[in-house]
Amino acid sequence: EKGNYRHYMQKEIFEQPIVVAQTLQTYVRPFEGEVALPVVDADLQAVNRLTIVACGTSFYAGLVAKYWVEQFARVPVDIDVASEFRYREPVLEPGGLALFISQSGETADTLAALRHARSQQQRIAVVVNVPTSSMAREADLLFPTHAGPEIGVASTKAFTCQLAVLAALAANLARAKGRLTREEEQEIVGHLQEAPAALNAALNHDEDIAAMAHLIAPARDVLYLGRGPDFPMAMEGALKLKEISYIHAEGYAAGEMKHGPIALIDDNVPVIVIAPSGPLFEKTVSNMQEVRARGGKIVLISDAKGIEEAGEGCMATIEMPAVHPLIAPLVYAVPVQLLAYHVAVLKGTDVDQPRNLAKSVTVE
Ligand code: F6R
Repeated sequence: EKGNYRHYMQKEIFEQPIVVAQTLQTYVRPFEGEVALPVVDADLQAVNRLTIVACGTSFYAGLVAKYWVEQFARVPVDIDVASEFRYREPVLEPGGLALFISQSGETADTLAALRHARSQQQRIAVVVNVPTSSMAREADLLFPTHAGPEIGVASTKAFTCQLAVLAALAANLARAKGRLTREEEQEIVGHLQEAPAALNAALNHDEDIAAMAHLIAPARDVLYLGRGPDFPMAMEGALKLKEISYIHAEGYAAGEMKHGPIALIDDNVPVIVIAPSGPLFEKTVSNMQEVRARGGKIVLISDAKGIEEAGEGCMATIEMPAVHPLIAPLVYAVPVQLLAYHVAVLKGTDVDQPRNLAKSVTVE
């Protein structure tokens, strides 16, 4: 079943261009230049606030979606991890829309949060990969991801498919709210259509990433930095590394470094900077320079332009294709997944079955 791959996780990382394309097929009409969710615009028009709830990697997909929904649709988003949402007595206006994101559709905390939201008269939307799951059955609005079965415990392809659906959802909501011109919608669809090829281009750097994994493998701690939608990607990169290689890693908003974590910097703590070219690039690079000035060893993940501008003096660089900022989170998922994967292989850990973890967390 693994074919030529050594691990399911590796196979699933490489499946991303295909499964993201499959998923997008059901959410965009490329010829019309339209997003097309299985929900009518009239139903979304009344949405004045969106509540997003998920756990782990699915939560990070939700965090990226918050940036998109607020930017495109100008609808405020509340987001929580499910285990907090359940118990913190959130204020939910009757008739509000609550969105639950889950690969398995069975995560106990997320399912309990969904039922709590239902009891508070929320409309329940679900982004889920397992179509027969409890969450899929309990949804009012079902947005399936078409990633196919995910076997590796660390979520990879389900995550990028979640992002694809969430980008389409943000655009659909924006259209329903009258916030998107035809041209803007066409542009968004065009960028989404570029994602599969860009994911392929990112995967072409697999060998470069394998070749630099030895720089990370000996570390005890690793920091990941990003800004805007790439901040959740920094947290996702850190989660992937800790769960499969057992190296302690944290993702920070690049601008937060100077408020504390920079005290950790020395030449034993590699800092991985996720900085695609775009409106936030210069800001992130200036945070990176602060780290470098304190002797920090940096791995810069950027496109050719970014690396040319800021790559000098970095311990290593990982080049990504130049992409529109909208799809950067999908594309930059690949290098952080591959880096975690190759570090874990070097360390000889059980990549597909990391210790203490289960694929589907059906206990609280
Ligand atoms: C990380 C990972 C977990 C899951 C989390 C939620 O690689 O796989 O953090 O994302 O347990 O699971 P789902 O998405 O099935 O609700």
